[in-house]
Amino acid sequence: MNVKTIGVIASGGDSSGMNAALRAVVRMAVNNNFKVKGIYGGYQGLIEDNIKEFSSRDVSGIIHEGGVIIFSGRSDDFKSYDGRCKAVENMKKHSIDALVVIGGDGSFKGLSILINEHKIIGIGIPGTIDNDLYGTDWTIGFDTAVNVAVEAIDRLRDTATSHDRLFIVEVMGRSAGYIALYSGLASGSEAILIPETPTDLDRVCKILQEGKLKGKRSSIIVVAEGDESGGAFSIADKIKNKTGWDTRVSVLGHIQRGGRPTAFDRIIASRMGVAAVKSIMEGKNNVMVGIINDQIVYTPLQDAIEKKKNPNPSYLETAEILSQ
Ligand code: F6P
Repeated sequence: MNVKTIGVIASGGDSSGMNAALRAVVRMAVNNNFKVKGIYGGYQGLIEDNIKEFSSRDVSGIIHEGGVIIFSGRSDDFKSYDGRCKAVENMKKHSIDALVVIGGDGSFKGLSILINEHKIIGIGIPGTIDNDLYGTDWTIGFDTAVNVAVEAIDRLRDTATSHDRLFIVEVMGRSAGYIALYSGLASGSEAILIPETPTDLDRVCKILQEGKLKGKRSSIIVVAEGDESGGAFSIADKIKNKTGWDTRVSVLGHIQRGGRPTAFDRIIASRMGVAAVKSIMEGKNNVMVGIINDQIVYTPLQDAIEKKKNPNPSYLETAEILSQ
């Protein structure tokens, strides 16, 4: 198909660097004589015809901004066949031949269904703080989220040390422990609990007790929200009942999602945005752009959705060795 107009959507949870990706898609497309249409508010915006043509100037001054200027969201209407038909109707109305979707696995599932049902062209760009997509070492927004979490944990460490306390810090990651793993290792946390590995609270208590005996005045456990132990409050209750330690909980929540993207997130977003448009020019379809070993790679959307990427277990080992 001869693509003339590219539509771009941000979908699912926002992540810092989505603006940089949008800027890259728009500028690469315009530089190569495509028309670009920004779709506002995720798939719902496509259904509701919330669409505007973008020039290169429309994406000026956004590379350093968190959130995403075309807004994001999750759409229940898009889950129905009728909703998707309406979306495709609006694509036709705006002569959109190809869609670039910046989002996570849920957004790619939607895109993949649309491609199969309506024979459109669709390319994914991984934008999620969770870093849980197969086919890329990094997703846009992960590095920023980790840095936000590390800054928060550093602050909590001050209070933990001043008061000889245990802090349980819950970070985001519904089914993935990447943020917990990276922020825990970078902040010198005493224990890191992630959904990808079994959690043994007796063992955690033993490690913390050994640290105390060696003269540690503070302990920090970083837990991913999706860990099977049930989240920070439940862990705190169990540990308090068992040990009587002075324990506090801090749930970092959505502060990890917004804010100025790090240089790293801006760079990968820029590279992936350019690569997404290039892939359309090369006739690719139904793939996600990724970066593996610093190289741009394309993975079938189906694999990006279905295959599991697991964190490197040596990170946990390193954290454990260094926590004593
Ligand atoms: O997928 C990104 C993410 O931030 C998860 O880490 C988290 O579980 C979820 O989104 C929260 O979603 P919502 O913004 O809908 O509360």
